[in-house]
Amino acid sequence: MVGLAEYTSRPKETWRGWQWNRIAERLAGDSKAPSAQRRACSRATALYLCGPEDIDRQVALGKGFRTENLVAVDLDEASILRVREGGGIGVCARLEELLVTWPADWPIDVVVADTCTGFSASAIGLFAALVASPGVSDRTVVSVNLQRGRDKDTTEWREKIGGGLGAIGEELPKHRGHEWLMGCNCLMAAISANRLPRGISRNDVMAARVHGLLERQEPVTQTYRNSKRSVRMDSVVFRFGLANSPECNGLEAANALRQAFAYEGMVPKPYSDTRIARCRRRLAALRAVRTRRAG
Ligand SMILES: C[S@@+](CC[C@H](N)C(=O)[O-])C[C@H]1O[C@@H](n2cnc3c(N)ncnc32)[C@H](O)[C@@H]1O
Repeated sequence: MVGLAEYTSRPKETWRGWQWNRIAERLAGDSKAPSAQRRACSRATALYLCGPEDIDRQVALGKGFRTENLVAVDLDEASILRVREGGGIGVCARLEELLVTWPADWPIDVVVADTCTGFSASAIGLFAALVASPGVSDRTVVSVNLQRGRDKDTTEWREKIGGGLGAIGEELPKHRGHEWLMGCNCLMAAISANRLPRGISRNDVMAARVHGLLERQEPVTQTYRNSKRSVRMDSVVFRFGLANSPECNGLEAANALRQAFAYEGMVPKPYSDTRIARCRRRLAALRAVRTRRAG
């Protein structure tokens, strides 16, 4: 468990401001004008990992987000109860499960995954969930914060993806946020290249796909040191960039993608039916509370 002081450390506070500024700019179509950013934020729905202190909410409200559109998410029930006591709305669920069960008629504009974990298998699963989420579109702004180190379980995955990127003249970056994005982009490119007819160069198609994605995503990165433990945190903010097709939506698609994203030795379990059913119930309850408040 990360100590509370680490959520309020100066480097983290500075980073948090940087993150929401980058999000606001992207929502406003890269506009630096505060009024355009406030307008865009006031209409946007954001899902964010709240943690025990829910500090992000104040920063987001300051940028113009509305309470009813700021959905706190955490596996920790006590954190969600605290959000509700403070007047906010939230769901106790795994972010990936929430994304794949999210309704298509409630577009998600922002996903903030300040996980405070390393580049683990669940970070790879998060990308698969974003691809398969009915609420996520190519315009959704995503922010991911990953700890450098503590990621032995994905060393083999990263080495393999590094080889794939090498074949198209790209390197796997050391920055964990950038590495996560490049690695997952490379996998998405490989999945589409696998469907090619004979005679077309797989590498050419992959290179075009990865570069095209990066152009749309316009990722920006930041690194800060968590002062107490001197842990390095690598974060990336980008537009998702991947157009969501109906055949790649929802639970089945998410399970298939998790398999496609895996490698020998890292076999992801399919989402549990019980957990997904619970997530759907909680999401329905969240919507009911939100509607009641609006009325
Ligand atoms: C670093 S804290 C968030 C801190 C918050 N962003 C802030 O700036 O104060 C991360 C929180 O996310 C939760 N968490 C981590 N991974 C999660 C996941 N995949 N789904 C849901 N909750 C998750 C943890 O329980 C923890 O409370």
